[in-house]
Amino acid sequence: LQIFAGNSNPRLACAITNVLEVPLGRAEVSSWSDGETRVKLEENVRGSDVFVIQSLCSPVNQHIMELLIMLDAVRRASAARITAVIPYYAYARQEKKTAGREPISAKLLANLLTTAGADRVLTLDLHAPAIEGFFDIPVDHLRATPILAAHFRRLGWQDFVVVSPDAGAVARADEFRRRAGGSLAIISKKRTGLETAEMLEMVGEVEGRDVVVVDDIVSTGGTLLKAAELLQERGARRIYAATIHGVFADHALERIERSPIEKVFVTDTIPLPDGVVTEKVEVLTVA
Ligand code: R5P
Repeated sequence: LQIFAGNSNPRLACAITNVLEVPLGRAEVSSWSDGETRVKLEENVRGSDVFVIQSLCSPVNQHIMELLIMLDAVRRASAARITAVIPYYAYARQEKKTAGREPISAKLLANLLTTAGADRVLTLDLHAPAIEGFFDIPVDHLRATPILAAHFRRLGWQDFVVVSPDAGAVARADEFRRRAGGSLAIISKKRTGLETAEMLEMVGEVEGRDVVVVDDIVSTGGTLLKAAELLQERGARRIYAATIHGVFADHALERIERSPIEKVFVTDTIPLPDGVVTEKVEVLTVA
């Protein structure tokens, strides 16, 4: 078994190799002076079971190219089996056409990964589980909700409400509730623009109770902040969030810092932006 990693999430790659007690394979993954990606495996992989770890976080397209080129290098070096380990699968929110003349980018990415040489894919919490079916190779679709819920259970809260910020997120919130305890509330969210949303209504009682908003992705933070506003209006006490993928795009962390949200628990499928120091985010490893 040999493990290689691109440049997107070196800390997680290290954590995984530590857990497995396998050294990280040596490879040069850098750029040529014109910006093209350069990959050179420094180890023989002939006949090996090779895992390439790469989270498809920002800069997304660069990290995709790194992964594709690494897979190509491993395939051409005659590995026996190649698994692309993708803690965060990008373009997952572009998994269907919502209007005419749009692409299905999540499917295109699946095609590219297979063409590049992946024999199987291991990923976490795809935004749309149906993406698994975009591949004709095996996909191990792992879930991180148990990790977040177990952490929450250890906090020992007694009476709290698990909030789904969107009708589409109810299954995940309910799984969290079954594992961590508490009761369930559901907010109905309406998209008002490409990256903006409005919270319409909520089913469930939160007055005077602690709440934890459970979602798969925090990107601009708009969903969390709007949910927090509504929860505050409805008299919630402390507001927490538990999300799998911390994209934290577009100054989301600064907005969260200024918000009534006490803390966001997030996994390390995506590293926090460099230099960020915030007490409002607690990172749990999926290694
Ligand atoms: C939407 O369907 C997802 O589950 C997340 O709620 C959404 O992607 C979060 O994005 P943002 O932080 O930009 O509101």
